[in-house]
Amino acid sequence: MIAIADARMDVEYEQPLSDAGVCATRHAWARVPAEPGPAERAALKDRIRALLKEKNAVMVSHFYVHPDLQDLAEETGGLVSDSLEMARFGRDHAAQMLVVSGVKFMGETSKILSPHKTVLMPDLDATCSLDLGCPVDDFSAFCDQHPDRTVVVYANTSAAVKARADWVVTSSCALDIVRALQADGQKILWAPDRHLGGYIQRETGADMVMWNGACIVHDEFKAFELEALKREHPGAKVLVHPESPADVVALADAVGSTSGILNAARDMDASEFIVATDNGMLHKLRTLFPHKRFIEAPTAGNSATCKSCAHCPWMAMNGLAGVADVLETGRNAIHVDPALIPRARQPIDRMLAFTAALRSGAPIAGLVPHLGAA
Ligand code: 13P
Ligand code: SF4
Repeated sequence: MIAIADARMDVEYEQPLSDAGVCATRHAWARVPAEPGPAERAALKDRIRALLKEKNAVMVSHFYVHPDLQDLAEETGGLVSDSLEMARFGRDHAAQMLVVSGVKFMGETSKILSPHKTVLMPDLDATCSLDLGCPVDDFSAFCDQHPDRTVVVYANTSAAVKARADWVVTSSCALDIVRALQADGQKILWAPDRHLGGYIQRETGADMVMWNGACIVHDEFKAFELEALKREHPGAKVLVHPESPADVVALADAVGSTSGILNAARDMDASEFIVATDNGMLHKLRTLFPHKRFIEAPTAGNSATCKSCAHCPWMAMNGLAGVADVLETGRNAIHVDPALIPRARQPIDRMLAFTAALRSGAPIAGLVPHLGAA
């Protein structure tokens, strides 16, 4: 058998400098595992199924990871979902060992919510440009400049940044939470994704100051090319993740989180969809709706850095071999500084309580305390 080495790729991302509005290009990397051959793949899946039973563990996978890790999670009683439901499921499941396939902030959120559980990830270096682009010291200084604002941070941040926040939100609940804060007269400090923040500001009219971060994947979707693709497919509905630029969001028939995109594809009366999000999402869309056609929204084109391939290089670090290895060895356990956990947990709990109330139709007013700055 010829062993194919894991591929290491360089990834550029933007990091805001202290001078307002200015970003510098920074360099990170991602290590993408080689695709196993058919026999190895089947053997790895069998090993994982057995290990999950033996260790009483459960898999929690994001929609952007390899299809094998999505399917295996569901088949074995785990979950594939968006980042909000990953957090909720990990917290509520009885298993004392969680194997989280996604990026680091997802594993950290699970650990913060369940410090007594063992949370394993296939590769602890799987990060996120939003997390990288929002270092806690700079972010804290930004918060200090705006003591009168309620601090709302996206889940795609470090535990330390969450510990400076009043609220954590994901893309599936950010709009509802900011709308409730605005109705309470609160002014918002938003971090780190400027596109998601801009979308929420346009939708709610909330008073928001914003961190200048971006997702390297969604930032690459292009409105000009999307308009051309729409002309080629006049009946297609356009589904857009709100981490995309404003001119792409403006072309959307539905804007939503990964789960929101899935629900829109289910509910909309169309047979063709153009999808502006990480192309890992297409697996679930095509599996659930085999009679509908899903077309990838255009990016700037493929490049060696993977910046424009519509697939998150850090999500791609999750593979079958990694899952089998961590289950076998206990390697790659997520560690969050215990001193940070109680404070980082507060804004996550607030989000989970708010979304649970929203879903059940319970009143939310009491869940939006006037907190001021963190
Ligand atoms: P969702 O919360 O929509 O799953 O998004 C997480 C993410 O990282 C999107 O890039
Ligand atoms: Fe972060 Fe973007 Fe990757 Fe999501 S797709 S984990 S926002 S870099």
